Amino acid sequence: MTTAKSRALVLESFGSLPRLVERPVREPRPGHTLVRMRAAQVGHLDLNVVDGKFGILPDLPAVPGTTGCGVVLASDTHPEGTLVRLGGKAIGLRRDGCWAEHALVPDAAVEIVEEGTDPALACSWFSPVGTAWAAVHTVADVRPGERVLVTGAAGAVGAMAVQVAARAGAEVVGVVGRPAKLAHVPASAKAVLASELSPESVGGPVDVVIDTVGGPVLRDALPLVRPRGRVALVGYTAGREFTVDLADFLLADVSLLPVNLMTRGKEVAADAEVLLAELRTGALTLEMERHGIEEFAEAAERLRTGEAIGKVVLDLDLG
Ligand SMILES: NC(=O)c1ccc[n+]([C@@H]2O[C@H](COP(=O)([O-])OP(=O)(O)OC[C@H]3O[C@@H](n4cnc5c(N)ncnc54)[C@H](OP(=O)(O)O)[C@@H]3O)[C@@H](O)[C@H]2O)c1
Repeated sequence: MTTAKSRALVLESFGSLPRLVERPVREPRPGHTLVRMRAAQVGHLDLNVVDGKFGILPDLPAVPGTTGCGVVLASDTHPEGTLVRLGGKAIGLRRDGCWAEHALVPDAAVEIVEEGTDPALACSWFSPVGTAWAAVHTVADVRPGERVLVTGAAGAVGAMAVQVAARAGAEVVGVVGRPAKLAHVPASAKAVLASELSPESVGGPVDVVIDTVGGPVLRDALPLVRPRGRVALVGYTAGREFTVDLADFLLADVSLLPVNLMTRGKEVAADAEVLLAELRTGALTLEMERHGIEEFAEAAERLRTGEAIGKVVLDLDLG
């Protein structure tokens, strides 16, 4: 009898790249669903796990990848042949995740997806959409007519935050770090380069900043916020550290508000679902780039350096 083989990206030590290995397909077992993967997200959280820099880490060797999408091969719970999204239940964190051609995950980490949905979209929409909604509505509570500045405005969360804020009736300015990204800021925002941030370039004080970048970009955006304005802090791709002069901070009277999708996920789920329908029709846009599993190193590098445009996804239908 031959055992079916399957490729997986296996992380052997933190700080190194996972290695593409061929191994037997896992045996189905009770309480678990075996999935033939079609797409898996490569996200900043996943790279933090690969680097050993996240608060929850797996025992190694392990297959990273916290979200994916595929077709059920065997399950006591989910019908064979259905398209499903994988996420949660610590997959890609404490147990093997989605960067593989097959994944065996707890039934509770599996959610049925509407047939016909693009697998790359199915596995990558919730983070940018849920986070953008949480930042704009739940945390910053953007009101019609307010002026909102979004940093990293061509990134996945940033571009979505631009669109969500504009729909909330805000006047939006989108900030990007490099000229090549200006064209990728959604049309509902005025696009500005981070190196040119000034009260003049953004058209005067803003009520709200949605910051997806951190570091020096956040530092430069803060003085543009009016007193009693709000800053929703989403990410730190440009720098994890940020120092505050308390005297200046109190004088400025601007609230710094963390956005955490892990704690806000349930709260925003219903609103995010509505936006998913609009992503399917093209009324909202989420750019993404697809890479074969053997191109993982390039995919990770593009995400790390900020070269990537939108979501980065491993397309497991390729190759
Ligand atoms: N708080 C939460 O719950 C939550 C949820 C989802 C995501 N996040 C975080 O939010 C951030 C944005 O996520 P995303 O999915 O939108 O990421 P993304 O699509 O990669 O966008 C991030 C932006 O950061 C800038 N950037 C990336 N790498 C950089 C580098 N090495 N140096 C300087 N700038 C860099 C780039 O903008 P420019 O080229 O314009 O500079 C890039 O477009 C990430 O830190 C992610 O971990 C947080």
